[in-house]
Amino acid sequence: MQHYHHLLALFNAKLEEEIESLKKREPVNLYEPVIYTLNMGGKRIRPVLLLMAYEMYQNRFEEALPAALAIEMFHNFTLLHDDIMDKADLRRNFQTVHLKYSGESAILSGDAMSILSYEYLLKCPATHASEVFTLFTETALKICEGQQFDMDFENLHDVSVADYLKMIGLKTAILLACSLKAGALIGGASDKDAQLLYDFGYHLGLAFQLQDDLLDAYGTTNEFGKNIGGDIVANKKTFLLLKSLELASGNIETELKALLSAKSFDKNEKIRAVKNIYDQLDVVRLSENEMESCYAKAIKNLDKVAVDECKKRHLYSVASQLMKRNS
Ligand code: IPE
Ligand code: IPE
Ligand code: MG
Ligand code: MG
Ligand code: MG
Repeated sequence: MQHYHHLLALFNAKLEEEIESLKKREPVNLYEPVIYTLNMGGKRIRPVLLLMAYEMYQNRFEEALPAALAIEMFHNFTLLHDDIMDKADLRRNFQTVHLKYSGESAILSGDAMSILSYEYLLKCPATHASEVFTLFTETALKICEGQQFDMDFENLHDVSVADYLKMIGLKTAILLACSLKAGALIGGASDKDAQLLYDFGYHLGLAFQLQDDLLDAYGTTNEFGKNIGGDIVANKKTFLLLKSLELASGNIETELKALLSAKSFDKNEKIRAVKNIYDQLDVVRLSENEMESCYAKAIKNLDKVAVDECKKRHLYSVASQLMKRNS
């Protein structure tokens, strides 16, 4: 993980410069929530993956940094709007933007972040600008599709595991995939390698969201930085819930369905009762198995990338560390 921290420091130094320049823009009320969000931290996993993919082919990081900034900015924009949609009050252990400022601010500052990400992307080296721009735009739209499926599923009763995997593929996995492919393209990788890295990122991203859903129910607020149980309160169709609906019978099935259809309830009581059902049905283990299988598919793609093994070691290492995360 030493190398992760090295690239993180490199990226954060660049981000810091951008934050300084945002501080000079007006109106302050538009940019302050942007700066607040960027200063909250976060793992910065996407820009680091981009830089790791890039450095398998090149070592002049300067040319990859604008795309890395674009992707982190875009990710942070999605978080602002996601927290409105999910009625979340805590992010990275800070109050969410829509509560600290206002819903209107979170919408507009989020919009500004989305546009700023394109401003950064325009600084991408000319040789690969068009390809990267197309990839980024397709990804951005698919994230909206994933987010809409995520919301639609809250009120649907017949969501399958395949639907869930498609939804998390869109809302989460493709941004990790896009980060890796963008880094590879800017570095001058072959189309084949760029696609393998995309597929590595996609399956890693599926495992990442499965983990996020596990942490949403079983993590600790302090480490995870978000309030625990939000997915349960909102009837999010996570792997845990879908498997429970599949496996439950008798009293457990009746209780679970009653919990899902209750209109007024005590949030903590609902979280406790649903987790109790998850525990009885042992769905955490099933979710971990699914994560492992996505992770194994990811690794198979990385194995096939046609560069020296030693150049891939940082990606292997960060992927394996991500599976053990609690934040
Ligand atoms: C949170 O992403 C949103 C998901 C796709 C699960 P991260 O877990 O990468 O969030 P930060 O940027 O590290 O806070
Ligand atoms: C994240 O899904 C997807 C995007 C932000 C695009 P979640 O809603 O699970 O993310 P968290 O848990 O709020 O970070
Ligand atoms: Mg969400
Ligand atoms: Mg959310
Ligand atoms: Mg989540």
